[in-house]
Amino acid sequence: SHPLPLDKDGFIPLYYQIQQALIEKIQAGELLVGDCLPSEYELARSYQVSRMTARQALHNLKSRGYALSQKGRGTYVTRPKLEKNIMHLRGFTEDMKRRGMMPSSRLLEQNILLATGALPEQLRVEEGSAILQLRRLRIADGTPMALEDSHIPLQHYPGLERTDFSSESLYKVLRDKYGVRAAWADEVLEASPATREESELLSIPKNAIMLSISRVIMTTAEIPIEVACSRYCGNRYRASIRVPTTT
Ligand code: GLP
Repeated sequence: SHPLPLDKDGFIPLYYQIQQALIEKIQAGELLVGDCLPSEYELARSYQVSRMTARQALHNLKSRGYALSQKGRGTYVTRPKLEKNIMHLRGFTEDMKRRGMMPSSRLLEQNILLATGALPEQLRVEEGSAILQLRRLRIADGTPMALEDSHIPLQHYPGLERTDFSSESLYKVLRDKYGVRAAWADEVLEASPATREESELLSIPKNAIMLSISRVIMTTAEIPIEVACSRYCGNRYRASIRVPTTT
């Protein structure tokens, strides 16, 4: 289809107009996930703008999570960012299912270790008590979304280490087998670049921005459930929150 002419005398920057036109096509389903976007050169030609302007439009689509570039493949449409409501204590499996996506995991580590460092205090256990350590690559509809490190105090959840976490949901097992109900969590959000290992596991560029969410989550009886650090791909996730009034 022929692109609509841009408003060249208005206040809206040209790259922004092009970017929005492409987003509208994606939202209307004219461009599907996996489809190629026009190249910088093609965009510049069809909209009669400079390559710089076209490049900026494509760059913004990528940083907003609508597209990715790959050598030899060009720029193609990806799924838009998932919005993670950070006021919810929901686990990954449940969160993805609610979005109609298929959650899965790749279990990278499942070990028992002895509490040291900050863990005893965070998990309110004795130094040296048994902790289940999990490291999982979390996947939705086949796309790696996050890397999660979890530490769970085994003294409160004996036998939990026998669960196969390559297929089971941690929060579901805790709920169904141990009757755990999450009450609240202390969370810290932080942005930082992907490590080399993360960029390989998540198939994202080296140093891509990650959204880290560290949490200590507690039961209604004030017993720690988990100390966790989840590292979400910055180009696949964004955080949202409803801010209550302060009175
Ligand atoms: C979220 C939390 C993690 C937690 C996970 C459990 O992603 N941020 O701290 O470990 O959910 O998910 P699941 O129940 O799918 O194992």
